[in-house]
Amino acid sequence: MNGNFTFSIIKPNAVRTGKTGPILAMINEAGFEISAMKMLRMTREQAENFYEVHRERPFYDSLVEFMSSGPVYVMILRHDNAVEEFRKLIGATDPAKAEPGTIRKIYAVSVQMNAIHGSDSDENARRESDFFFSEIERF
Ligand code: CMP
Repeated sequence: MNGNFTFSIIKPNAVRTGKTGPILAMINEAGFEISAMKMLRMTREQAENFYEVHRERPFYDSLVEFMSSGPVYVMILRHDNAVEEFRKLIGATDPAKAEPGTIRKIYAVSVQMNAIHGSDSDENARRESDFFFSEIERF
């Protein structure tokens, strides 16, 4: 059975340029319920740990640098079949390949600065949510 929540990050490029409100409106209009949310700035070390799975990739250092470059919003979002539905809403990782009307098509500026993250599996949704939120911060 598919899970009813996913984890998301509004990335530093989108927060810095004032896109948080419009992105939250799209998430809301698509029927997702915010189950947890906070603004924070990751330390370099926290970003290294969060992206540990990408450590061997050529873009790892640059990704860590970018994700710790400014504040982000981290969120847990509820919806039926949440992981898959949210990935449809945000579009492909590479904005050039994202469908029209998706969050990344509208707000991403590059593969790295792609405005928003969404978990790619229920297992990662759980792991990523647990990385940022304690039990008393979720509703
Ligand atoms: P996301 O899927 O949210 O989390 C991993 C991030 O790594 C991904 O978004 C992109 O921002 C980034 N990423 C993935 N592939 C590349 C790439 N080829 N070049 C630069 N960044 C990448």
